[in-house]
Amino acid sequence: MARRAGKPRLVVKISILIVLLQTGFVLILRSSESSLRISDSVKTIGEGHRKIKVDKNLAATGDRNVSKKILRLCDIDVSRSVGNTGVTKNFTISLQEVSQKLQGIGPGGKWNPRNCLARNSVTIVVPFRDRWGHLAVFLNFMHPFLQRQLLKYRILVVEQIGIGVYNKAMLMNAAFLETRQHFPTDCIIFHDVDLIPELNNNSYACAKGPRHLAPAVDELGYHLLYGRLVGGVLMFTPQDFQAVNGYSNAYWGWGAEDDDMGYRIKKAGLTLSRPSLNTGRYTMLVHKHRRKNTRRFEILDKGMQRQPWDGLSNVNYSVLGIRLKPLFTHMLIDIGKTPDTY
Ligand SMILES: *[C@@H]1O[C@H](CO)[C@@H](O)[C@H](O)[C@H]1NC(C)=O
Ligand SMILES: *[C@@H]1O[C@H](CO)[C@@H](O)[C@H](O)[C@H]1NC(C)=O
Ligand SMILES: *[C@@H]1O[C@H](CO)[C@@H](O)[C@H](O)[C@H]1NC(C)=O
Ligand SMILES: *[C@@H]1O[C@H](CO)[C@@H](O)[C@H](O)[C@H]1NC(C)=O
Repeated sequence: MARRAGKPRLVVKISILIVLLQTGFVLILRSSESSLRISDSVKTIGEGHRKIKVDKNLAATGDRNVSKKILRLCDIDVSRSVGNTGVTKNFTISLQEVSQKLQGIGPGGKWNPRNCLARNSVTIVVPFRDRWGHLAVFLNFMHPFLQRQLLKYRILVVEQIGIGVYNKAMLMNAAFLETRQHFPTDCIIFHDVDLIPELNNNSYACAKGPRHLAPAVDELGYHLLYGRLVGGVLMFTPQDFQAVNGYSNAYWGWGAEDDDMGYRIKKAGLTLSRPSLNTGRYTMLVHKHRRKNTRRFEILDKGMQRQPWDGLSNVNYSVLGIRLKPLFTHMLIDIGKTPDTY
C-alpha cells in the first residue's frame, strides 16, 4: 500500500508511540513505584553499541490501589532490634527450597512493606559468577533480614558472562548504571554473595555518606584490618557513587578494587561511616578463593592518577539480559575480552 507524505506519517508515529506504551517500555522508566510482572517475552532495543535486552513485561501492575495518603511512614528503630539472623558457616540450602520457603516476594526479588511506607528504597547489588550454592544461602537469609527492617528493596544479581577473567568492579559499575536507568532507588549496597550479616540490628537503611557495613568479618577475626578497608558490603547514595566515578575498571582477578575505592572516597572528601564491631558482624560462607591478581598493588599505586577517567565514565559492557526471577533480578553482563596487559 502506497503511503502519502504528511498526515499519515504522523498517524504512524502516534501508533508507534501507543505500541511502545502498551509494551510497558516507556512505563518502566518512570515506574519505580509499581510492581513488576514476569512474562516470557523478551524484547531488544539497540542503544549505540550497547545492546539491551529486557523482559518485555517490566510493566506496571496493581499496587496503585494502595493509597499513599493513608499509609504512614514505617516507624522502626533497627538499632533496637534484637537477635541473630541464624546464619552458620556451613549452612546449605537449594534455590528451590528457598523459593518454597519464602513467600510474598515480588518478581525480581523485590519487596516493600504492606502496612507502612518504607523510608528508604535500596538496591542490593550482588556481583556474581559460579556461586549458586552461596546465592541460595544469601537469599535465604537476606530476604527475611531486609523485610524485618521494613525496607523497600530489590536484590539484583549481576553475573559476568563468558570465560574471561572476573572483573567484579566492572560488574558493579554496570549494575549501577543499569539500576539508575531501570530501577532507581535511594541508595545502593554492593554486597559480596558469601557475606551474611549475623545481627538483626545492623541497619541497611540509607546512610548520608558512604557506609561500610561489614567491619567485623569472622574470617578476619571480627576486626577491621586497616582503616581504609571498605570491602565486602558497601553502601552509597547514587550521588556519592557518581562523585567518586564508581569503581576502577582496572582490576582483573581477585583483589584491591575495594582498596582503590577506599582512596576514591577519601579523595572525594566523603565521610565514611561504619557500624561498630559489635554490630557489623558477618559470617563468610566457606569457599575457595578466586585467582588473585598478582599486579594488584602495582595498579593500586597509580590508582588516584587514573580515578578521574577510570570508572563509571569509561566502563564498557553489554547487557545480555535482565530477567525477573522469583527471588532476584538477574542481570547478565558481557565485559568483553580480558586485556592483554593483564
Ligand atoms: C482496588 O480497589 C478497587 C476499588 O476500591 C477494588 O474493587 C479492588 O479489589 C482493589 N484491587 C486490589 C488488587 O486490591
Ligand atoms: C546490636 O546487638 C549486639 C548484640 O546484642 C550489641 O552488642 C550491639 O551493641 C547492638 N548494636 C546496636 C547499634 O545497638
Ligand atoms: C558444619 O556443620 C556441622 C553439622 O551441623 C557442624 O558440626 C560443624 O561444626 C560445622 N562446621 C563449621 C566449620 O562450622
Ligand atoms: C567496547 O566494547 C566493544 C565491543 O566489545 C569494543 O568493540 C570496543 O572497542 C570497546 N571500547 C573500549 C573503549 O574498550
